Amino acid sequence: MTRIDPSALAELLAANPLARRIVVLEETPSTNLAAKVLAAEGAPGGTLVLANRQTAGRGRRGRAWESEAGACVCMSLLLRPAFPAGLAPRVTLAAALGVCRALRAFGADARIKWPNDVHAGGKKLCGILSELGMAGDGYFIVCGIGINVLQRAFPGELAETATSLLLETGRANALEQVVAAALQGLAPLFPACGEDAAYAALMCGYRALSCTLGRAVSVTGPDGTRHGVAEDFDALGRLLLRTADGALLTIQAGDVSLRNA
Ligand code: ATP
Ligand code: BTN
Repeated sequence: MTRIDPSALAELLAANPLARRIVVLEETPSTNLAAKVLAAEGAPGGTLVLANRQTAGRGRRGRAWESEAGACVCMSLLLRPAFPAGLAPRVTLAAALGVCRALRAFGADARIKWPNDVHAGGKKLCGILSELGMAGDGYFIVCGIGINVLQRAFPGELAETATSLLLETGRANALEQVVAAALQGLAPLFPACGEDAAYAALMCGYRALSCTLGRAVSVTGPDGTRHGVAEDFDALGRLLLRTADGALLTIQAGDVSLRNA
C-alpha cells in the first residue's frame, strides 16, 4: 500500500502558509474527528491532519465517505480565522475552488458542483466537509477534504458516481504532490474569505468553474424539494434559485442536497 511520506510532504509544503504543522496518522476513523480533537486540545491554526487509512470517513449530512487506503487523500486542515464566524460558510466554497484549480492543473476537467463538490465528467472526484467548532472564546473551522487519486474502480453504487484523478487523466500522481497542490490552491483563497472585495473576486473564479450555474436543479432541504434553475450565487456563496413562477429563492448550503433536474 502507498503511504504518505511525511518528510517529502513537509518539504513540498515548506513554503505554504496554511500547513504549519503536519500530522500523518497511520489509521483513524476520520481526519475531521482527529482534527477536532486536536483543536479542542489547543492545536494551532494551520494544523494539517492526514491519514493513510481512514476507516469511518464522513460526508455531509452524515453520509459515509469511502476511502480506499493508499489510493486517496484524506486530510483535514484546522483554521482559526480572524474574521467573524458568520463568514465561515465562505471557506467551504473557497476550498472547493482551490482544490478544483489544483486538480485541473493535473489535467482533469474538474468543475465545482455547488456548494463544495469537485466533479469531473459528471462524477465526484473530491468531497469537502467543513465543520465549525467553538474553543474558549474563539471558533475554529476544520476543513476536511477527500480526493480520489489512484482508485482504478469504486465499489457498489459509487462505480456510477465517483471518479479518480487516475481514471480522469490516466496518470498516477503521488499523494504528496496532490496534497501540496491542493494546499497551494487554497493558500491565497482562505484570507480572501474575510474581505468582501477579495471574496467577490474569488466568487468570479468560482462561477467560471461551476457546473451548477444555468442548470435545472432540484434542491432538497428541511422544507422539502424546490425545483428551478441555478441562476447565481450571492456574496455569501448561497445559491439563487429561479423557480418556474419567477421567484428567486436564496438557498443556504448547509443542509441541502442538490440534484440535476
Ligand atoms: P447531493 O446530495 O447534494 O447530490 P452528494 O450525493 O454528492 O450530493 P454529499 O452528501 O455531498 O452527497 O456527499 C456524500 C456522497 O458522496 C455520498 O452519497 C456517497 O455516496 C458519495 N461518496 C462516498 N465516498 C465517495 C468517494 N470516495 N468518491 C466519491 N463519492 C463518494
Ligand atoms: C462530502 O462530499 O459529503 C464530503 C466528503 C468529505 C470527506 C473528507 S475525507 C477527509 C475528511 N474526513 C472525513 O471524515 N471527511 C472528510
